[in-house]
Amino acid sequence: MIGKGDFRHYMLKEIYEQPAVVGDTLRTMIDPAARAIMLPSLPFDFADIPRATIIACGTAFYAGMVAKYWFETVARLPVEIDVASEFRYREAPMPAGGLAIFVSQSGETADTLAALRYARSQGQRILSIVNVPDSSIARESDAVIQTLAGPEIGVASTKAFTTQLTVLACLAVAAARARGAIDAGREAELSTALTEVPSRLADVLNHDETIRTLSHEVALARDVLYLGRGLSYPLALEGALKLKEISYIHAEGYAAGEMKHGPIALIDDKVPVIVLAPRDSVFDKTVSNVQEVMARGGKVIFFSDREGIERLGPGPVAAIDLPSVDPFVAPILYAVPVQLLAYHTAVVRGTDVDQPRNLAKSVTVE
Ligand code: AGP
Repeated sequence: MIGKGDFRHYMLKEIYEQPAVVGDTLRTMIDPAARAIMLPSLPFDFADIPRATIIACGTAFYAGMVAKYWFETVARLPVEIDVASEFRYREAPMPAGGLAIFVSQSGETADTLAALRYARSQGQRILSIVNVPDSSIARESDAVIQTLAGPEIGVASTKAFTTQLTVLACLAVAAARARGAIDAGREAELSTALTEVPSRLADVLNHDETIRTLSHEVALARDVLYLGRGLSYPLALEGALKLKEISYIHAEGYAAGEMKHGPIALIDDKVPVIVLAPRDSVFDKTVSNVQEVMARGGKVIFFSDREGIERLGPGPVAAIDLPSVDPFVAPILYAVPVQLLAYHTAVVRGTDVDQPRNLAKSVTVE
């Protein structure tokens, strides 16, 4: 598990481990025969929770942001999210009987641990999702769910992110069932969609060479924009973070619908615009945003499925045909192309992919 094997970098190896480790994580949370979620026993009932608060840092925060959409749309559970470095100091009022969820690969991030202690002081039930079971955050939680990503050596989080999403997706479905927001039939549909994710992730990895080719263009850019709506908005933020932290190119993730409120002024033919557009309820809105960008000379790299690419039509400099999946699981799948794009761009730029400058794998100080 610790060696690089035949891979040039740990990060690439860990990207390629995702089908396996997402599958390992799913097997601890889904009964495929019953097509139902089977959670470890938790010291609370989602039916009794008035609101959840999800707190994390960096990539783990973006997993929590995706989970907000999942909990609120599927389980009808109100969710507040925040980055731990802000939450730990803003004295947020928290509802009696509330649940606080902390997401952390290392389980040692100082800001996240401090935020956990604040939530504890406010009487919240504490659930943590960690990759290191005997970590500080795990030890101070009422309940812990472990991501089975295995050791993640690359500073840039990849398989930890997709296994965090996997756990959070299963939790959201379980919460929906407990709260009577979905019936057994919808639970079966969502469980099946999740069970198929490891195979779909393997399909996405088949686009590695195409994405490597695109990275030569992206590597020349001074600024890169990532756009997404709904569940894809946190993925746009995560894609931008991946590119920033390992290639040192400035990148920004944006809600696609927000472009007209200013950022569209940035668009010209020197700014690659990466668009994440699974065919979901906001797909047509995203297409409108893409057309606005292309009309201004923006160079769009469009990630969707085959039908989505046909519906957009000509115009993007590249269109990557990803598997068609239930929109619920799209965030897990769409993480891989942005990881690969960041990885290959960093290789072209010659940066230290596994140990980028100024960064640590776990930020155990403020
Ligand atoms: C992600 O690529 C970064 N390495 C960083 O944002 C990381 O996600 C963040 O520091 C949180 O770390 P944790 O999951 O160990 O708490």
